[in-house]
Amino acid sequence: KLVVLAYSGGLDTSCILVWLKEQGYDVVAYLANIGQDEDFDAIKSKALKFGASKMIIPDLKKEFVEEFIWPAVQANAQYEDRYLLGTALARPLIAKEMIKVAKQEGANYVAHGATGKGNDQIRFELGAYGLHPTIQVITPWRIPRLLEIFCPQFWHNSFNNTFLKLAGCLLTKSKPWSMDANMMHISYESGVLEDPNHQSPDDICTMIVSPELAPDSPEILVLEFKRGVPVKVTNKTDGTELTKPLDLFLYLNKVGGRNGVGKIDIVENRFIGMKSRGIYETPGGTILLAAHTDIEVFTMDREVRKIKRELDIKFSEQVYRGFWFSPECEFTRFCINKSQDSVEGKVTVKVYKGGVYILSRESPLSLYNEQLVSMNVQGNYEPTDADGFIKINALRLREYGRLRQQPTGK
Ligand code: ARG
Ligand code: SIN
Repeated sequence: KLVVLAYSGGLDTSCILVWLKEQGYDVVAYLANIGQDEDFDAIKSKALKFGASKMIIPDLKKEFVEEFIWPAVQANAQYEDRYLLGTALARPLIAKEMIKVAKQEGANYVAHGATGKGNDQIRFELGAYGLHPTIQVITPWRIPRLLEIFCPQFWHNSFNNTFLKLAGCLLTKSKPWSMDANMMHISYESGVLEDPNHQSPDDICTMIVSPELAPDSPEILVLEFKRGVPVKVTNKTDGTELTKPLDLFLYLNKVGGRNGVGKIDIVENRFIGMKSRGIYETPGGTILLAAHTDIEVFTMDREVRKIKRELDIKFSEQVYRGFWFSPECEFTRFCINKSQDSVEGKVTVKVYKGGVYILSRESPLSLYNEQLVSMNVQGNYEPTDADGFIKINALRLREYGRLRQQPTGK
């Protein structure tokens, strides 16, 4: 019996590893490197110490940027108007690679440490089943007896010394909340954050400084887009120029981070049904959202964009709910990608004390026509045409107004 365990090195998945061994499984530990700031060697030796037969740590950073973050940029992806989906976008990639490892190793089982209350269990498992229909998923957090091991509220009557010792040695280092980190974002949930009226500590963030501590002078960036994804960033302030997707994204994280850009504190609706409170830091993603939105409106046909924005919301919800590998999400990605044909050009932004300010934009493919819009030039436009346009549009409103003025009208 061979199982691939998505192993983070934390308390929960360490307990799960030991438990799986006790149940007679051979365990291959697996951790996706998606740019989280971790000591991967230390995690590997921990996994081996706790009984894993091997530890596999594939580097998925490039794929994460190009195949997952870029489609999200094209979609201006936000869940419930604010959350940039940093965790949700990484899950399908982690699941995909987990299945690849399972196939390589000849494992019929995979296991993960997401709780039974959250979104991540859904994302992992929908991904796994979608890519490997006959895989068997072991979910320790949903095994009633095991909850007694994982939930601190049960620890006073816990029975297994292995777990208690393990918990003791691992817990000393842990924070009073749960974190999920990758190169796109860090999220913080649960623990002391569960009271939505309790303000999070100022220094909770590690990617972003608070705006008060950011430099007093702004940084000016020029972001160049092709087909709706950034192909070049130039820092006008210090001359830095980058074109490789991974370097470019990491650089935007740095600039956003040191200028206090991209922290939010929100309550959101989980797929399972409950509301949850989270803190998110997404510095590079926040800059890209502002710049991409600007170049998109500048270049895209108005009616196409209206339809596209509805697809953006669909896509964001599909990603949030774990349906990346679904026919409907393939469809939204395809259409959104098509909508980006003309989303090309340069946007200049100012990044300053927590804000991203758009300064100017240019594009070879823009529908913007300076002559047409100008108040000083006639362009190819007949102002008297607007008479009829307004009168016809007013027809309905006049009828409505007439009705309301009648004594019996409401
Ligand atoms: N609520 C976010 C989501 O569903 C983050 C979940 C994981 N975060 C965590 N701190 N464990 O995508
Ligand atoms: C978890 O429940 O494991 C983390 C939070 C979530 O998945 O929504």
